[in-house]
Amino acid sequence: MTERADKFKSAKELLNLIESAIRSLRLYATDHPQAQEAFERAWYGAFAHLNNYDRAVYDFEDGQIFHDGALMVDESVACTEIISALERGLGNRLIFEQGLTRELLAAFLPLLADDNTDGSPVDGKDISLSDQIRDLDLEHVKVKRMSRRMMKKKVTKKSVSRREALYLRYERAIGDLSTLFDNVRSGRSLNLTKIRSIAAWAAKATGTDRDCALSLTALRNRDEYLCHHSLNVALFSSALGRAAGVQGNDIETLAFAALLHDVGKATLPAKVLKKPGPLTSEEWTRMAGHPAGGTRLINKVFQGEPAAFVIAFEHHLGADLSGYPRVTDDWRQHLFSRIVQVTDVYDGMTADRSYRRPKLRSEAVVLILGDLAHLFEPALVRLFFQLLGVYPIGSVVRLSSGEMALVRGVDPADLCRPIVKTLTDSPGRLLRLVENPSITIEEVVDARAAGVNLSHALSTD
Ligand SMILES: [Fe+2]
Ligand SMILES: [Fe+2]
Repeated sequence: MTERADKFKSAKELLNLIESAIRSLRLYATDHPQAQEAFERAWYGAFAHLNNYDRAVYDFEDGQIFHDGALMVDESVACTEIISALERGLGNRLIFEQGLTRELLAAFLPLLADDNTDGSPVDGKDISLSDQIRDLDLEHVKVKRMSRRMMKKKVTKKSVSRREALYLRYERAIGDLSTLFDNVRSGRSLNLTKIRSIAAWAAKATGTDRDCALSLTALRNRDEYLCHHSLNVALFSSALGRAAGVQGNDIETLAFAALLHDVGKATLPAKVLKKPGPLTSEEWTRMAGHPAGGTRLINKVFQGEPAAFVIAFEHHLGADLSGYPRVTDDWRQHLFSRIVQVTDVYDGMTADRSYRRPKLRSEAVVLILGDLAHLFEPALVRLFFQLLGVYPIGSVVRLSSGEMALVRGVDPADLCRPIVKTLTDSPGRLLRLVENPSITIEEVVDARAAGVNLSHALSTD
C-alpha cells in the first residue's frame, strides 16, 4: 500500500471512530461506560493517526466528505453526525493537528454531539464551532469556513458526478430519517437541523437536477418504507410545487412539511403498519388516527412550522373533502396539502408493501387519472404527470432491442420517448430515444420481479 493509501485508510478509521464517539455522546452521559469506551477508541484513532502524520484534514462539501481531495464514499453516507455538526456549526473543514491531547479531544467531541444550538443565532449572531473552540481555548483542533473558491483551489477532488453526489445524499437522507423516526418512537430528542438540511437539499435538487432527483425515488427498501416514502413525497412535492408556481423559501417549507406528513405513523406499532392482511376495525381506527397524531407531534416538537402541521392533518383529504379526518363542508384545503395528497398517493401505490405488490408507475398514473380522479385537483395531476412523462421517471422498461432500461429523464422533444439507461449491459448506455427511432418501448415491467439492481443505473452517468 502506498503512503498516500495508508494515510487515507488511517484518516478513514479516525473519522469513523469520531462518528461512533459522537453517537455515544448523543445517547449517554459523558461518564457512562459506553461513552467512555467510544471516546477511548476515538482518542486511540487520533493518537495513531497523528503519530504518523502531522494533520488530518477533512473537507465537507454538498454532504460529501473529502480527505486530501479524495472522496470518502462510505463515510459520506455513514458519518451523518459529523456532517450534521459541521453544517450546524457553520464549518466545512475539520482539522486535527499533532499536539492534540486526550483532554482537548474530550472537550471538543461534546461540541459536535450537542445540537442544542440548532444553528440558531444567539444575540443576533450565528454560533459557529470555531467560535466555541476559541471560547474553550482548544488547540490543535480547528473548524474552518472555507469559501467555495478556496475549496476548489485546495480540494482537487476525485471526479464525482452530480448524479453520484445526489445518490449519496439520498442514501444519507434515508439514514437520517430512519434515526428521526426511531427517535420519535422512543421519545428521544429530534435533530431538527438534519430534517431542515434534507428539506433544503430536496428543494434545491429538484430545482437544479430535477429528473435525476426524481429518478432516485425508484430506490426502495420495504423495511425502510416510511423513510423512502417520506423522502420521495418531499422530492415529488418540491418538483410539483415549483411547477405549480411555489417559489423561493416556500419550496423548502413545502419539502420540510412533506417529509413530516406521515410522522404520525412513526408511533404506530409495526404489527399494524406492516400487517400483511386487511386491518381489523380497531387497527384501522389507529391507522386513520395518524394525521391527528402527526399534528400533535408536530405541535409538540416542531413548533413554528404551521405548514407541516396543516399538511399532516389534511394529506388524506380528497379534493372532494372525502377521506379522513372528517371536516366541515366549507373546509378549504391548503395548496401544499393538495400537492402532497397527489404525490403521497402516487408514491404509496408504487411502494412495495407487505400486504400487496407495488403498482407499476404507469399503472398508478392510469388510476389517478381514471378511477381516482375525483380525489385530486385536475390541474395539479396534469402538472405532475407532465413532470414524470408518459413512461414515468423511475420506471423499468423493456426495449424493442430486448434490453431492460431505467427511465431516467423526460425528453422535452417527445414525452413518449424518454431518456433511458440500459440495465442489461455493463456499465449501461444512456439512450435518448428521440435520437434512436428504431428503438421503441415494448412494456413497463416490475423492477423487483425482473431482478434488476437500480443502484448502479441511478448513481452513474
Ligand atoms: Fe398518511
Ligand atoms: Fe404518506
